Amino acid sequence: MNIQIDSKGKIRHFLSIDGINRGHLLELMATAQGFLTADGDIIHAPTVLAGKTIANLFFEPSTRTRCSFEIAAKNLGAQVINFTSATSSLKKGESLSDTVQTLVAMGVDALVIRHQESRAPEKIARNLLRDIPVINAGDGIHAHPSQALLDMLTISRHKANFRDLSVAIIGDISHSRVARSDVQALMTLEVSDIRLVGPHKLIPNDLAQLGLPIYTQLEKGVRDVDVIICLRIQHERMQDELDMSATDYYQQFGLTKRSLGFAKPNAIVMHPMPMNRGVEIESAVADGDRSVIFEQVRNGIVARMAILQTLLA
Ligand code: NCD
Repeated sequence: MNIQIDSKGKIRHFLSIDGINRGHLLELMATAQGFLTADGDIIHAPTVLAGKTIANLFFEPSTRTRCSFEIAAKNLGAQVINFTSATSSLKKGESLSDTVQTLVAMGVDALVIRHQESRAPEKIARNLLRDIPVINAGDGIHAHPSQALLDMLTISRHKANFRDLSVAIIGDISHSRVARSDVQALMTLEVSDIRLVGPHKLIPNDLAQLGLPIYTQLEKGVRDVDVIICLRIQHERMQDELDMSATDYYQQFGLTKRSLGFAKPNAIVMHPMPMNRGVEIESAVADGDRSVIFEQVRNGIVARMAILQTLLA
């Protein structure tokens, strides 16, 4: 059962892009867009969530996403409490469920959850003491739907029509919840050409089975694309799983000025961050005029404002 949508067809929990339809996604994008001025500045709306309290529960290290949700909530006038597992009673052996239910019992109005275990936010959403929205801020290798929303918003600010786009996702797709959510969002928006680019070992079966084209050569993978999404290469995986040094990876799959030259002249370059300069991307590209990486960070705020407003206001 899709627990994300209520009986009236409204989004109740934001757990995954899977289960969110095209209409919902476009509406969230439009709402997020509404929080940006023509110059791209963020518009605050401090009455929207006045009196509400959002709990940020991060069971995995994160600064960017946690801060982004906190700023988004505060821009809408909500109060925020931050809970990190390092300092919690989980260390004293309390179960995850008891920790969460305690916060729910205290009267928080929504939970934003990041967890190392895939589908942990969904499990929590299914067992709540009170019916409040749960927002997935990244779970295991499963999903990172708010990142997908901000990525789609960013693409929409540069490209007119999703259906005609060619998008290349490059890197460690196997371990990437961002890649999975981005693919779902791009498919929902009916993008015609979604390419998975990287060493064979980093292309997962679940996505390969969708029938998406796979490229193990970067130049072919980015040829004539409109959008490039670079993913972080986890150094710790290089030796064991990949059997490739960071230098070799950079030579074969690093997005450099040269390899970017195979994409369309107006192609945009994206990265969810944190990025390893000189491993998956050349600094000159990350800081170059085709990079929208820091724009993604800003769009992350308004994307999360849109999610919070849609679920809570
Ligand atoms: C991503 C994540 O945590 O999934 N980062 C983020 O949310 N900004 C990507 C990553 O860790 O590589």
